[in-house]
Amino acid sequence: MNILTFNSEEKLNEAGAGIIAGIVQTKPQAVLGLATGGTPIGIYKQLVKKFEAGLVSFKDVTTFNLDEYVGIDASHDQSYRYYMEQHLFQHVDVTPERTHVPNGKAADLQAECSRYDEAIAEAGQLDIQLLGLGHNGHIGFNEPAEELVSGTHVVELAEATRLANARFFASEDQVPKQAITMGVGSILKAKMILLVVKGADKADIVQRALQGPVSTDCPASLLQTHPSLTVLVDEAAGSKLV
Ligand code: F6R
Repeated sequence: MNILTFNSEEKLNEAGAGIIAGIVQTKPQAVLGLATGGTPIGIYKQLVKKFEAGLVSFKDVTTFNLDEYVGIDASHDQSYRYYMEQHLFQHVDVTPERTHVPNGKAADLQAECSRYDEAIAEAGQLDIQLLGLGHNGHIGFNEPAEELVSGTHVVELAEATRLANARFFASEDQVPKQAITMGVGSILKAKMILLVVKGADKADIVQRALQGPVSTDCPASLLQTHPSLTVLVDEAAGSKLV
């Protein structure tokens, strides 16, 4: 595992975007696993800048997002499809048909999960999976549990997760109770994992995830088993790493 600590958010975002752009530059048909949430916004901004500067093209890239809320439409301003359009897709030359986000409004959610897994398998291995980290150690929406699920599945969101995400909604009761998420197996199958963690409020959980026991109580701890894990932290998030 390679942990890189940054003393400015800008440098961290630039490094994250540099890693992703580097993959696409060497492999224009790369398959990218993407994340949403507050953490990667600055990285997407830097990727857009690189695209605008003519340094990278996403024309032949295929993308798979980690997760989507159940029950809200793609056009809802808190859907993860909407987020990706706003922060990345609309600003670069990605081919819309090659961008994949689970459909949280599918009539048959189980069928949607299977369809998503099949689409990932058809695209081949993810070249990189970008991840943020939940305060409870979740990755994607794989919440702490006695058992974790390998493939794409429907999850009940933990109360802590709904509370953390309430900041994006008018009130907590508007935060969906369920989501579709890629499973830990799908995440761990990626060739490379890029975990990005920012802020003092994540210092304890990133220490536990990277240096504590590997346990389903902290799904991110499974990342310790991945042969190619790069972690970008700011000084505040990395302050408890030993
Ligand atoms: C987002 C996702 C989540 C977030 C995590 C951290 O697609 O899968 O696991 O990465 O909840 O969210 P932020 O970055 O908002 O702190």
